[in-house]
Amino acid sequence: MTQAQTFLAGTALALLAALPAWAEEFRIAVGDGAGGTQEALGKAFVAALEKESGGEMTGKLFLNGQLGDEQDTVTAAATGTLDFSILAINNITPFSPSVGTLTLPYVILSQEDAETVTQGEVGRQMIEKTVEDAGVRIIGWGYSGFRVLTNSKKPVASVEDMQGLIVRVPKNEIMIETYKSWGINPTPMAWGETFAALQQKVVDGQDNPYMTVYAMKFDEVQKYVTELRYIFSIEPLIVSEALFEGLSEEKQAQILAAGEAATQASSAFLREQESRIRDELVARGMEITPPADGEKGFIELATAQVWPKFADQIGGIEVLNGVLTSLGRPTV
Ligand code: MLT
Repeated sequence: MTQAQTFLAGTALALLAALPAWAEEFRIAVGDGAGGTQEALGKAFVAALEKESGGEMTGKLFLNGQLGDEQDTVTAAATGTLDFSILAINNITPFSPSVGTLTLPYVILSQEDAETVTQGEVGRQMIEKTVEDAGVRIIGWGYSGFRVLTNSKKPVASVEDMQGLIVRVPKNEIMIETYKSWGINPTPMAWGETFAALQQKVVDGQDNPYMTVYAMKFDEVQKYVTELRYIFSIEPLIVSEALFEGLSEEKQAQILAAGEAATQASSAFLREQESRIRDELVARGMEITPPADGEKGFIELATAQVWPKFADQIGGIEVLNGVLTSLGRPTV
């Protein structure tokens, strides 16, 4: 059993029998299906919440967007009609532009980068901005790996190969502009509509991490993978700020501690599972192509065109430079 699985199983078993009948049960929306990062983060959070609160608080996961599309769950949590949601960071950006730094292409270049930014001072500032802008509080961070490009038509190694593909992107301006920098006019579409659009060939492709491709069974409708590394997908756990503010300080502290435990479990989960999931997708018939020339063509176009365009929106060039400095990289 892996470290993450042992944590989940041990905590869940110990508490299952102990939960009192009056335990407060929160509803937790999860955008993806079973088997991916979002579910793992959610399970770890529920187990830790039960432990931290001595069984007085628990949560129920609703997978596959049952409680609404990812962007809609932000609005629902902000208005207090939903308790928690686990979703991709790119689906929070439209409500809180400051987190856009995390979807700027080629800023986060590894899992370590993602952990450094989210768990340090930069992440703390983003949490405060998101409370102000969107009425939701990020209390845990999930890590999903790089968003690889998948499509049903052909192997893609270069920007030239990509031309002519119809690619679904989230309704996220930064991601739309990134594809435009590569000469593609992408199709912005809600997450919940994506599988059907791929299946019905309304679009040829999309990008998401291997973990998500697996959890959503995209291998059933997509064959070719290009191992782009333009965005490292971060999948936060958010709580309605209205709900959070209404809780006692003790319960708030328990929720924050559970979010921290879930963050650590998510880091371990990705490290343990990503290469296994990648191999599994290959075994199911997906074909992987590395980007040509170390991805140089993609990197040059995206960074030159997209970074300057969104600097103001994410809070100024100093915000981007703050992130780059925290990662030990040269500023712009
Ligand atoms: C999206 O592509 O909209 C999201 O990345 C989906 C997800 O949360 O996995």
